[in-house]
Amino acid sequence: MDKNKRRAVIAGNWKMNKTPAEAAALMDALLPAVAGAGCDVVVCPPFVALPAVLDKARGSAIAVGAQNVHFEKSGAYTGEIAADMLAELGVRYAIVGHSERRQYFGETDETVNKRARAAVDAGLCAIICVGENLAQREQGVTEDLIRLQTRVALGGFTAEDLKKVIIAYEPVWAIGTGRTATAAQAEEVCAAIRMLLAELYGQKVADGVSIQYGGSMNAENAAELLAQPNVDGGLIGGASLKPADFGAIVKAAGV
Ligand code: 13P
Repeated sequence: MDKNKRRAVIAGNWKMNKTPAEAAALMDALLPAVAGAGCDVVVCPPFVALPAVLDKARGSAIAVGAQNVHFEKSGAYTGEIAADMLAELGVRYAIVGHSERRQYFGETDETVNKRARAAVDAGLCAIICVGENLAQREQGVTEDLIRLQTRVALGGFTAEDLKKVIIAYEPVWAIGTGRTATAAQAEEVCAAIRMLLAELYGQKVADGVSIQYGGSMNAENAAELLAQPNVDGGLIGGASLKPADFGAIVKAAGV
């Protein structure tokens, strides 16, 4: 399938950066930087900055996402945020299973599956993150691991559910390190993810799913990464906090 039929999605993961006031100021700078985008643009601020960012994004081409979502609808889960709470605010995306959540907060493939389920059930689009660490890459198990992570994350998902799913391939060794995967490495794994989706759901469904690359994507390397046939977008950390750089990445995705 022609990849141009899949809309590119560039999402900024602001991680634990920006107070609500700082987030509003960043939006003021981002809005002109991404004006006229030829792709879908998403920003994912910290939870407490969501109202300020949603306020700024209203009527613009920028959609807003959360960085996590809990799997239960409500209850005794101190410190967690439910999908309906996000949806009611106007949030449309939720990142699920980011490697920092897996590494520091005990996220597992099973909880990623449950969180993604809750997001999709609430009408959110789940950006499901998968990725190998350096030792796993050096051991040659990258493809097996990515297939396993993706398969478990999608357990119980129907073809219809997949319309609300984006897979983000983020090699852990490339996140925040300035060490980007080569375009060939990114393409190899994104293609393997699509092949798994085709095995599970058929080629037509697989061809409709957006697969992002994330890990030190920046204004300089974005065009080459995004030109790969199976790389449909990017999940951007550091560069998403720099309006000119994020604008350049958005532009690279829209051509
Ligand atoms: P960096 O772009 O800072 O490497 O972060 C990538 C990432 O983790 C996005 O979710």
